[in-house]
Amino acid sequence: MDRYVVFGNPIGHSKSPLIHRLFAEQTGEQLDYSTLLAPLEDFTTCAREFFQQGRGANVTVPFKEEAYRLANTLTERAQRAGAVNTLSKLADGSLLGDNTDGAGLVRDLTVNAGFSLEDKRILLLGAGGAVRGALEPLLAEKPGSLIIANRTVEKAELLAESFDDLGPVSASGFDWLHESVDLIINATSASLSGDVPPIAGSLIEPGKTFCYDMMYAKQPTAFCRWASDQGAAVAMDGLGMLAEQAAEAFFLWRGVRPDTVPVLAELRRQLAL
Ligand SMILES: NC(=O)c1ccc[n+]([C@@H]2O[C@H](COP(=O)([O-])OP(=O)(O)OC[C@H]3O[C@@H](n4cnc5c(N)ncnc54)[C@H](OP(=O)(O)O)[C@@H]3O)[C@@H](O)[C@H]2O)c1
Repeated sequence: MDRYVVFGNPIGHSKSPLIHRLFAEQTGEQLDYSTLLAPLEDFTTCAREFFQQGRGANVTVPFKEEAYRLANTLTERAQRAGAVNTLSKLADGSLLGDNTDGAGLVRDLTVNAGFSLEDKRILLLGAGGAVRGALEPLLAEKPGSLIIANRTVEKAELLAESFDDLGPVSASGFDWLHESVDLIINATSASLSGDVPPIAGSLIEPGKTFCYDMMYAKQPTAFCRWASDQGAAVAMDGLGMLAEQAAEAFFLWRGVRPDTVPVLAELRRQLAL
């Protein structure tokens, strides 16, 4: 049976084996998908050994940059992201690196939530790996403007400079912004500690602004609670992004696009347990 894994360290918490098992059952694809704890000091050897037999892999924290260096060829979006979350072994034995995180985010917003990004004013909070991966797919949707705001403003500025050939992207500090936007995406890890980035409530136009937290949890995240308190039209978490980035990887490997709706419902059910 074709073998796939997700590399990470730690990796025990990963939902990817469940997601890909559900995709395989749904599509009738015969595959085996499991977790693989790679040593922190030698991801490359571990990955090379796996790929003697294995067909494909997802890569999570902290190995996405190493996977980027390991890949023989890269998709445009992986090149832009500077990180790889999906590796595929090609017919000639070489490794193709892709990054499906941003595409997963865009699909969750545009398909699952039905929110078109065209001409919208978007505020992206954070300037880490998740933002870098999201920028190319977000700008491909032709927003009216995209502001990257970060605690360390210099990081937002560097990112804006690297992507400004793709669309109207600019950088900001959190406290420089007051005028309302159409969409706020929280890609900081502040929610992990129950914090919300210090942005003005006036950025939310009650009943209109859409808010999205890349993090997800059993209960609404701190950012989603804050957004709802300000009157946001929608406050949505990132579980759908997780399912969609996996579906994009599955499609890349198997040429079949699974239906994420029942899988997302099952993930939500299990998260609530
Ligand atoms: N749903 C999904 O499929 C999915 C996929 C990828 C990531 N994510 C989530 O996205 C989030 C970011 O991930 P990442 O890989 O980009 O992390 P990262 O590279 O470590 O970047 C973290 C970012 O958060 C900022 N930050 C951290 N603590 C903060 C605080 N207390 N207040 C304000 N800003 C703070 C950092 O600002 P500085 O630059 O100033 O340090 C940085 O911009 C995580 O919550 C992760 O779980 C979800």
